[in-house]
Amino acid sequence: MPPADEAGGFFMKAPAVLIFVLAMGSFRHQHLLGIAELSREDIELIFHRAEAYLPYCRSALHRLPDLRGKSVVLAFFEPSTRTRVSFELAARRLSADVVSFQAAGSSLAKGESLLDTVQTLEAMGIDALVIRHHASGVPWFLRRFLRCSIVNAGDGHHEHPTQALLDGFTLWKHFGRLEGLRVCIVGDVLHSRVARSNIALLRLFGAEVGLCGPLTLVPREAEQVWGVRLFTSLQDAVRWADALNVLRLQRERMESGLIPSLEEYHRFFGITPQVLAWNPRVRILHPGPVNYGIELTPEVALGPNAHIRQQVTHGVAIRMAVLSLLLGVS
Ligand code: NCD
Repeated sequence: MPPADEAGGFFMKAPAVLIFVLAMGSFRHQHLLGIAELSREDIELIFHRAEAYLPYCRSALHRLPDLRGKSVVLAFFEPSTRTRVSFELAARRLSADVVSFQAAGSSLAKGESLLDTVQTLEAMGIDALVIRHHASGVPWFLRRFLRCSIVNAGDGHHEHPTQALLDGFTLWKHFGRLEGLRVCIVGDVLHSRVARSNIALLRLFGAEVGLCGPLTLVPREAEQVWGVRLFTSLQDAVRWADALNVLRLQRERMESGLIPSLEEYHRFFGITPQVLAWNPRVRILHPGPVNYGIELTPEVALGPNAHIRQQVTHGVAIRMAVLSLLLGVS
């Protein structure tokens, strides 16, 4: 592969399959705010493009020229490791300029509003703003005022579309389909944007979705509103499912008193080798960060059923695909 500075001539040497995938279909969105705004065809386009980018997402030696001349700003107002770093790597692997805005130490501390802050960033000439914020709806609010592309990297407990895309992509690569698949989301659904985006994506593809967790952490209306199946017994859920998407207890968004204790939660809903014995073929996903000994044990997270590391790798490819499609690489 050519080094970055020779990458302009890359397409002369690119494999035919990559050129074919980059040329197929068209993506008509300026922003990626939520899964609810995407069609099945949009998501298939993202999956195919991510698959074509996969061999190029592991090393800076394979930098592609697709976003040369574009600027991407990452503005994370909540903690993040994998989402922020993978967006940054994705943009860099496509030769974009990337700036990470640090909320701490910025003029927000001097009383500047969020809107003024992002409008100031936009006035410097940016093509995409990747934003994570603790308030649900912030990316939709900003869309009314900004001309650049906005990518939602997680808003409150509402949506986290690129996480659902990488989870769906991981299942699609393993099973070869999503239709008819039985996926159970286990744990703190109530506070989870990952769960909401996953449910929307899986239902769009005709997968069956189950939810399993303490009644205090699974919205009661889920069955009717989302068309999912509720499980109160982990054993029933595990026997039913092809894959479990295991969630962290998101205590930063949780009122007290929703679970008796972490030990009790682990006893009833923790995924352990004994739990896997109920269905040895079940696949395990987790968006990270993992709290070992609560929702999952290290043996399960590092064992043969888990796709957790693969999800992280897929996250870079999915974010490369999303950025290139939004910023008009056809
Ligand atoms: C998730 C998030 O931030 O919503 N993590 C992630 O993006 N990889 C889930 C979580 O924090 O538990």
